[in-house]
Amino acid sequence: MLTSFDWQLQRKIRVLIATDDTALSERLWAFLEQSGETRPIATSTNGRDCLEMLKNQAPDVMLVADNLPGEDVIDLCREAIHIHPRIAPIILSNGTRYRDAEYLHTALDVGVCDLLKVEPPYAELRFQHIISSITQAYNLIQERVSGVGGGIGRVISLFSLKGGVGTSTVAANLAMALSHQDDRRRVMLADFNWRFGGLDAAVGHVAHQSVLELIPVLDGITRTDLESIAPPIGNGLRLLPAPLDSERTEFTRDLLEREVLEDDRATMIDDLLMRIRERRSVQIDADKTDYLEMLLKKEKIKQILSVLARRTLQSLRRNYHYITVDTGAYMDDVALTTLEMSDLVLLVCTPDVPSIRATRAALTLLTDLGVSRESIGYVVNRSSRKSEISLDDIRSLFTGYEMIGEVPADYRALQPFANTGALIAEAGDSPMARSFRKLASQVQERTPIARAA
Ligand SMILES: Nc1ncnc2c1ncn2[C@@H]1O[C@H](COP(=O)(O)OP(=O)(O)O)[C@@H](O)[C@H]1O
Ligand SMILES: [Mg+2]
Repeated sequence: MLTSFDWQLQRKIRVLIATDDTALSERLWAFLEQSGETRPIATSTNGRDCLEMLKNQAPDVMLVADNLPGEDVIDLCREAIHIHPRIAPIILSNGTRYRDAEYLHTALDVGVCDLLKVEPPYAELRFQHIISSITQAYNLIQERVSGVGGGIGRVISLFSLKGGVGTSTVAANLAMALSHQDDRRRVMLADFNWRFGGLDAAVGHVAHQSVLELIPVLDGITRTDLESIAPPIGNGLRLLPAPLDSERTEFTRDLLEREVLEDDRATMIDDLLMRIRERRSVQIDADKTDYLEMLLKKEKIKQILSVLARRTLQSLRRNYHYITVDTGAYMDDVALTTLEMSDLVLLVCTPDVPSIRATRAALTLLTDLGVSRESIGYVVNRSSRKSEISLDDIRSLFTGYEMIGEVPADYRALQPFANTGALIAEAGDSPMARSFRKLASQVQERTPIARAA
């Protein structure tokens, strides 16, 4: 689980500064540290260093001065985007060239997000101006890479901060019902509960390969790559399995080791950070290197997993009409990426107080993440006339959000399916099967697939 400390660290926009003017870099650095939204990660004083840092540190935004010695800033930005396509470059321009319209056009064509005027002694540099330029540039690139408009598919994720409410049951049956609506439609049920998943068993298939197989082809996941690991589980429906148990124990251990929180180690990290900030040399005692190595490895794994999640969803969106994503009842990088990239987040809620609390918490979280209200809805699972909390009560608790479906509580109807792993949505005319069909039509109406470009 993430502590709020990790959380903040992760959500900050990581910024690389490239200028050989100390006065400028110091002032920018101070701004970036001061803002809650950004985090300075390094300063480079020449083009070569800057590209090296892009490769190694993968910043989100690059602030680059247009008077770096010996550099054509436009070429540098072009190269930067080539090396690290998710970078958002912002040029810091010293007065004269700033007014040159031709220069501005060339910069924008190359993919530069903004041009800011900076003139020594930089007293006029405004905090708000710099920070908002950075956040805008970042959002622009995020939208571009998250594939909004890229691919015709729609990502529908099912989420709850409380387990056991039926998230997986709804995800699987919704996927099946969506695939039944149209013979030519391709649907993927993606198990993104990467820590504790096991949707394969729930739908009666034993997975032998998982999403982790995609790591070697991260840069261009094709439909063939996806289909080689995602077995068909119905007509026009496939399952993309979460990491297998054997794979999972390994990375879960790497991710969750408690030692990270030990006090002396936290102090060590604080010291190191302080030294790095003050540009002092960093020495690590022999007895601490093991720990540092472990920490970096963990960080690396976290990064790989969130890139994997993003790239997988992008490829899915290009190759399938609907992608129904099952998630775990926790928040981590993978969940974060999934929720941010979803066309529709469906929160699964049962009519009881703990689940309602969890749903409220999830709504707050989604708002904090910047997920728009229009792309959030909720499904009430296990509804029953006997429950103390009625559908109307729930509606009034979540005004402003649409109830997109309602699935009745019916243990007996589910039982045979739970035993065989079949999906109820494909069978007969029980109230439960009907409710999934209705849910699918509502989802389709709310998030129609884009017309093929
Ligand atoms: N509408 C329902 N009526 C009765 N039982 C349900 C219903 N939905 C889910 N369940 C049961 O609840 C249990 C938890 O469901 P699951 O989908 O695994 O939840 P989650 O993914 O949220 O942890 C399962 O045994 C499932 O069969
Ligand atoms: Mg589940």
